[in-house]
Amino acid sequence: MPYITEEDAQAVYKVVLEKRLSQGVYVERFEKEFSRYVGAKEGVAVTNGTAALHLVLAALEIGPGDEVIVPSFSFISTANVVLYQGAKPVFADIDPLTLNIDPNSVREKLSEKTRAIIAVHYAGHPAEMDELKEISEENGLFLIEDAAEAHGSIYKGKIVGSLGHAACFSFYPNKNMTTGEGGMITTNDEELAEKIRMLRSHGQHEQFRYKYIGFNYRMTDIQAALGLVQLKRLEWVLARKIEKARYYTRRIEELEFVRPPYEAPYVRHTYMFYTVQFKSRELRDKAIELYEREGIETRCAFDPPIHLQPVYIRLFGYSRGYLPNTEKASDTVLSLPLFVEITGKEQDKVLEVLEKLAN
Ligand SMILES: Cc1ncc(COP(=O)(O)O)c(C=O)c1O
Repeated sequence: MPYITEEDAQAVYKVVLEKRLSQGVYVERFEKEFSRYVGAKEGVAVTNGTAALHLVLAALEIGPGDEVIVPSFSFISTANVVLYQGAKPVFADIDPLTLNIDPNSVREKLSEKTRAIIAVHYAGHPAEMDELKEISEENGLFLIEDAAEAHGSIYKGKIVGSLGHAACFSFYPNKNMTTGEGGMITTNDEELAEKIRMLRSHGQHEQFRYKYIGFNYRMTDIQAALGLVQLKRLEWVLARKIEKARYYTRRIEELEFVRPPYEAPYVRHTYMFYTVQFKSRELRDKAIELYEREGIETRCAFDPPIHLQPVYIRLFGYSRGYLPNTEKASDTVLSLPLFVEITGKEQDKVLEVLEKLAN
């Protein structure tokens, strides 16, 4: 659930009255402030997180004949954007603890055709960027962070967003900050940012002159005005979510049939999802049923994994057994309600349902 206040509404009201309705000065300001927050030189605001990923691949000229290594335990756009470019997504397995792409599996999936790796920071837990960086440097590959779920997450002292060649964020309303729909690319590569800016707007380099076949992936000033207020509040939101996540974790640690989310000692997990793992799919499905009965919304993020989505089975013929850790995670995960305004009492109710499962 997004956290929206009168201040957000006023910001949007003001920008509409100013008649700033498409990309303009608010977008520019949002790009500057967001990229400064993550510690990257450049920020390019776009329509959504999917467009952000697509634009990075387009700017890197990844295309037919190329392969991009991605996790299957993710939202579908992580892999779809590779197909948009006519390239092939190659799925690597995940680490069963962090649920992030496993560098060892990435090494196994490398081929002559590999051009890039997309590392998703699942639910706000940063991926193993040091090892992935090593692989990308050894093999001359681009390393792209899919940070759609990880605003403000920290890996070994650094906020995610400048740990690879480029990073992509989403500001969809279920994220820790929102612009409604919206996305952002951050990078330290000024040339790449310049090209992405052109591709975002039809490949235009000066008015009515087009250097590339681009897209209309622009963000509006209305969205950016909302984003500026949300960004100002992000650290406060994260502190609330982390505190509430820890409350869940303390209680869930006492249950033997379900595991709270793992948090490596060198990260700040930002809990965009609070995802627990059950001992079996049966138990997980029983929990879903109990939550439905109580009118409590939960999510299976992500089940099925991308390679077992109907369209991927039809196009590529994947079947179960291809990615054991991914499939096990998909079978057993459940994301519990976690948002700024959830009360202690509501959290207790969520926990009681879990505790009922023990009997
Ligand atoms: C890991 C991941 N990648 C990409 C996206 C796509 O972002 P959007 O929905 O803004 O297009 C999302 C979420 O929505 C996501 O969770």
